[in-house]
Amino acid sequence: MSTCSRSLPLDGLPRHSAPRAGIQNLVSIADWSRSDIEGLLAVADDIRCHPGEFAYSLAGTLVCTAFFEPSTRTRLSFEAAAHRLGAKVLCMGDTQSTRMGLGESVADTLRMAGYYADLVVARHASDGTFERLSGVLDVPLVSAGEGQCRHPTQTLIDLFTMRRHFGTLDGLRVGIVGGLRYSRAAKSLLAGLRAFRDVCIHVVDAVSDACHGSGPRPCLAQIAGTGVQEHACVADMLGLVDVLYVVRVQREQFQDAAAYQAQLRRCRVDSRLMRACGKDIAVLHCLPRGEELPEDMDGTPFNHYFRQAAAGVPVRMAVLQRYLGRFRRSTAAAWVGDRLCLDIAPAATPEASLAW
Ligand code: CP
Repeated sequence: MSTCSRSLPLDGLPRHSAPRAGIQNLVSIADWSRSDIEGLLAVADDIRCHPGEFAYSLAGTLVCTAFFEPSTRTRLSFEAAAHRLGAKVLCMGDTQSTRMGLGESVADTLRMAGYYADLVVARHASDGTFERLSGVLDVPLVSAGEGQCRHPTQTLIDLFTMRRHFGTLDGLRVGIVGGLRYSRAAKSLLAGLRAFRDVCIHVVDAVSDACHGSGPRPCLAQIAGTGVQEHACVADMLGLVDVLYVVRVQREQFQDAAAYQAQLRRCRVDSRLMRACGKDIAVLHCLPRGEELPEDMDGTPFNHYFRQAAAGVPVRMAVLQRYLGRFRRSTAAAWVGDRLCLDIAPAATPEASLAW
């Protein structure tokens, strides 16, 4: 156990300032209380069980996805979520087709998105961007991942997946494995788990060989908080955890192939290792994966990571519902021809075919 003290909130950044009057933004999971999280997870579960009943709850609204960094799951699942709630979607999947090539700022680009849509979902590579810019929008800004510290909706998905499997988050024993100091999903999860009681955290932290500026490398407790137990390799923690949350060992952070392979050996979670441990451990991964989670895990009962990825849709539906919801499902509204119909019957399909 490390002895370093923690001077920042668990996501490593100063706390998000109060939103402008009447505007709420989702920037950091550290801003959410236990009851905020539990309320959201309850709505997500309701949506998962009865998606047809929410099919028109955001009819007449427009969601803009503005991604200044690549994404597969987050963008697609937010857009799927918006469509499944009856909202329309404006999509900025990359910056190539915008005027950012002429030097237009992120602030002005997001400001425009806020003029044209009712809510903006955005991703950016730099820590603190949304804290700085959320005040320029007159509509809610929802982070789709930012820098190396914050990914609030990924954390909601992770907590939803764990709670669905275990029934509770209190008392859970969670192992986090991989390059967690470079992983916003891991750091955001650590912040989210702080809201629950008696959660034990074990980590294997893959540290790169790269030099990061002139200052000292932050110790694990500065990144993960105090009370976290560090282990030399994943095999050492298997007897102590209920969940293994794996993140990439980021090859791009290493200058030397041998150094990367050495860290990978500490963190790799494969079917031979998991079967040998003889325990029912739920393996999660925010994806995309690298060599730390080989495909031979996919067909095993330890695989909860695809279910976790699929849960992105109902959880993000619940997020959009929270920030935009105008119609309760009992008064769902939809245009049929030129008529606005209230209390329409839930769609008979496609609930049976959904993966959630
Ligand atoms: N988990 C996650 O954020 O995936 P994407 O980068 O594909 O959105």
